[in-house]
Amino acid sequence: MTRTSLSRFLIEQTRSHQTPAELRFLIEVVARACKMINHQVSKGALGGVLGSMGTENVQGEVQKKLDVLSNEILLEANEWGGHLAGMASEEMDNAYQIPGKYPKGSYLLVFDPLDGSSNIDVNVSVGTIFSVLRCPDRNGEEGDLGEEAFLQAGTEQVAAGYAIYGPQTMLVLTLGNGVKGFTLDSEMGSFILTHDNIRVPETTAEFAINMSNQRHWEAPVKRYVDELLQGQEGPLEKDYNMRWVAAMVADVHRILTRGGIFMYPRDAREPEKPGKLRLMYEANPMSFIIEQAGGVSTNGHQRIMDIQPESLHERVAVFLGSKDEVERITGYHSK
Ligand code: F6P
Ligand code: MN
Repeated sequence: MTRTSLSRFLIEQTRSHQTPAELRFLIEVVARACKMINHQVSKGALGGVLGSMGTENVQGEVQKKLDVLSNEILLEANEWGGHLAGMASEEMDNAYQIPGKYPKGSYLLVFDPLDGSSNIDVNVSVGTIFSVLRCPDRNGEEGDLGEEAFLQAGTEQVAAGYAIYGPQTMLVLTLGNGVKGFTLDSEMGSFILTHDNIRVPETTAEFAINMSNQRHWEAPVKRYVDELLQGQEGPLEKDYNMRWVAAMVADVHRILTRGGIFMYPRDAREPEKPGKLRLMYEANPMSFIIEQAGGVSTNGHQRIMDIQPESLHERVAVFLGSKDEVERITGYHSK
């Protein structure tokens, strides 16, 4: 049986959908970096890579050694190829400038280098999330690339994907025409197309939310989850099941595979922070993937990909997954 590698898939995309060679190269480089991150993650205690750095990122979260290592791997892999005008990462305060000795390209890469990193030390799935934007025309302007270049709505993404480092390592990718899943053949060192047309079922009986925050949620979320918990005897007349891995990549991957609704609502703990998840690095790329797979993604009030970002590290409430349930909770927000 002929196997389709990621490279072959990308070359065929260039032929059938005019995917630019520069974008093809970018995806290949990101995939290569993910293989390197996968290698480091899988070494665990043997590689001396577990534990914290003793530093905090711009969000005030403790950085793990693997957060920092994964960030460096992505930067080093992507800075020299001439395909990028700049990068931004959840782990860096400001936009990353392509060193002057390298040519610059037309794309911007933003990423969460190691999502769900609190799972690392307990050997549970983690991942890398990325999003690709076009760099706006700078009208010949030289000098550092500012944050404004990155502040584009999710609808402007030209590609998005994630790698999941789990029982299998997979790369899930959209270039705006459906969602493909590739499984890493670690003996051959290549990603092989194994999931050709990923679709999120429209209906579901499975939800994912951190229930310990219940007392802080807004009224529509309290109402919705209360109805889910009432099951067959409640207004939804159906028993629901709950799963929470606490790595967005893993929870979204499950939902892509068998349906479900993922929620990280805003809550009353820190009113100035609307939600926990980052719009640019997490919510937008995952929304692009979910929508391309037939699902829906909102912040309770509007489509996430329509939000105009105001800052690089902006946070947002997230409700994504199976259409029927995401539409239900979005509807509750307007009541
Ligand atoms: O990146 C943030 C993140 O780790 C997500 O991957 C995950 O969905 C969420 O935070 C887990 O949050 P909590 O710690 O509240 O379970
Ligand atoms: Mn994350």
